[in-house]
Amino acid sequence: MITLPGLIDIHVHLRTPGQEEKEDFYSGTQAAIAGGFTTILDMPNNENPITTKELLEEKIDIAKQNIVCDVGFYFGSLGDNFAQFPQIEKEVFGLKLFLNPTTGNFLIDEEKLIRIYQSWPNPAPDGAGQPILLHCEGETLPLALKVIKSSGKRTHICHVSSQMELSQIIKAKQAGLLITCGVTPHHLFLTEEDSKKLGPYGLMKPYLKPQKDVDFLWQNLQFIDLIESDHAPHTKTEKKSDHPPFGVPGLETTLPLLLTAVHDGKLTLDDIIRLMSTNPVKIFNIPTDPNTKVEVDPNEQYTINNKLLYTKCGWSPFAGKKVRGKINSVYLHGQKVFDQGQILAEKGSGKILVPNG
Ligand code: DOR
Ligand code: ZN
Repeated sequence: MITLPGLIDIHVHLRTPGQEEKEDFYSGTQAAIAGGFTTILDMPNNENPITTKELLEEKIDIAKQNIVCDVGFYFGSLGDNFAQFPQIEKEVFGLKLFLNPTTGNFLIDEEKLIRIYQSWPNPAPDGAGQPILLHCEGETLPLALKVIKSSGKRTHICHVSSQMELSQIIKAKQAGLLITCGVTPHHLFLTEEDSKKLGPYGLMKPYLKPQKDVDFLWQNLQFIDLIESDHAPHTKTEKKSDHPPFGVPGLETTLPLLLTAVHDGKLTLDDIIRLMSTNPVKIFNIPTDPNTKVEVDPNEQYTINNKLLYTKCGWSPFAGKKVRGKINSVYLHGQKVFDQGQILAEKGSGKILVPNG
């Protein structure tokens, strides 16, 4: 058995309030614990986007009663809520902005981006304060890099998926921009080829990429700061519809996939700790507890099974895949909360986190 620190997923969509048919705080945090994540940060693209203090607090109140792991939140902006920033900056782990269309229609243009960057209280150049997170895939990345450079504000680029994107990010890092970046497990373990077999269950933004892009990500892991699952559950009914929404769940499959990759020699356990604990802590100022930890059996093999998932959506793009490395038990603040497939935590026993809290 190997002991890891409690892992952190800085990118999840728990859908509440408003879309509880996809996920809620109880099912989503159970999925987190079952996947070895003891801290998760929840995105603001809810049905009603989280762009006011009131909506943020309403969300936190619901979470408090229902979470079984530690949870922090992000704030959102469509470029019309600057007066809210000083009121919420200490409560959230960052500001999430979307430069490409995706679930939630939370899109902003260049002019708004510049104004939001001017307003977000992230005191450069020392990088203190909470970062802005960007969904800026493909053609919107160069524009984003230009704005980051002129504002000097610390930024995390979400779910990098192509050689083109990562090459630009590496250059920008080398030029001294205050940027970090993450990749998702689906962009590391699936390719464009899989989307043909998976149909709507392999549909997400950014799309799955050709093998050469996936290879480039693996070859340049040292430039990648963290792994983010982008857990984005949608119901099977929605996925089977004529207009399936973008997004796949990831909380319960990320660690087993990465442990399998460790066995295959593609990365090391130290890489897992760097990508899923040490770096997320540093980048987002996440409080930690030495009594929060995960025990895994690196040699136990099993097949990912939709029926055994805690996520409410009840499916995974990795269903049927054989993995090597199983989460045996999870301790949250010294309490055993997960043991061999069973959640032991009581609803509401997780903590609401704030940066440096
Ligand atoms: O595939 C995605 N799903 N990409 C996103 O950017 C949003 C997410 C969601 O919320 O469903
Ligand atoms: Zn996302």
